[in-house]
Amino acid sequence: MQETGQAHLQSYVRSLRRSAESLHRPDRPDVFTLDGREWDLLDGVFAPPFSAATGVAMELLDAELAGPPHGRPHGRPHGRPRSLLEIGCGTGVIAVTAALTGHGRVVASDISPQAARNTALNAARHGVADRVRTLCGDLFAPLRELGEDGKDGEGERFDTVYWHSNFVKAPEHYVYGSMHERAYVDAGYAAHRRYLAGAHDHLAPGGRVLLHFSDRGDILGLRRTARECGRGLRVLRSRRVREGQETVEHMLLEVTAARAALRPAA
Ligand SMILES: C[S@@+](CC[C@H](N)C(=O)[O-])C[C@H]1O[C@@H](n2cnc3c(N)ncnc32)[C@H](O)[C@@H]1O
Repeated sequence: MQETGQAHLQSYVRSLRRSAESLHRPDRPDVFTLDGREWDLLDGVFAPPFSAATGVAMELLDAELAGPPHGRPHGRPHGRPRSLLEIGCGTGVIAVTAALTGHGRVVASDISPQAARNTALNAARHGVADRVRTLCGDLFAPLRELGEDGKDGEGERFDTVYWHSNFVKAPEHYVYGSMHERAYVDAGYAAHRRYLAGAHDHLAPGGRVLLHFSDRGDILGLRRTARECGRGLRVLRSRRVREGQETVEHMLLEVTAARAALRPAA
């Protein structure tokens, strides 16, 4: 039977194929350029040159990274540097850019050890290793390591908690064939559920929980999951981009503590 356009776009099998291709493409570079800067790319890490997603994520996040802290300047005590917790940092492009554009404290974490190494490499390349702490592990679990470098440890709170996620939904019992597949698909949205439920525990007063998503993902399923976690979703910004033969809508979502309809910000 012919898949509908939406089912085709959301097919996890196709995403897994894109994951495998991106690992072994002969033109996979060691260094790439994005947003006017050069970045190292290690083997096995999500490759921004082969996906529009990272560039669009940067664009949609731009106002959050560059502007005043969410237009809520009262949220941050005087003298405390602006802070970002990035989950799923990959090559570190977003985390390092945040450090270069005024974030005094960035914690960047990824479930892939190679991605955490890649982020540390790019933080050093751009001279912000003192401001970007890289961690490795599942979602918020590695935050407990922070205590070791004299910070607040697991109790540290951030102005922004952000994840450019693996927004394609795979079946609940899908067994990952490689670490790299985790950059593309989330089995049963189990990680998304934990992110929606847990991210607010790491937020400073007045801060924001953000999620970069697209219509390759199951937005209705995400919305349902958010509701089950007592969270709301709000589209802050979105953009349609051409990716090969298809047009994909990327969106920056705010995860709100209370329920709210999935609608554009006023
Ligand atoms: C779409 S990639 C984004 C990478 C990078 N932020 C970028 O924009 O290029 C998603 C990232 O989330 C990471 N990831 C997936 N599941 C995770 C989890 N449970 N905990 C932490 N990171 C995870 C993947 O390893 C991958 O690096």
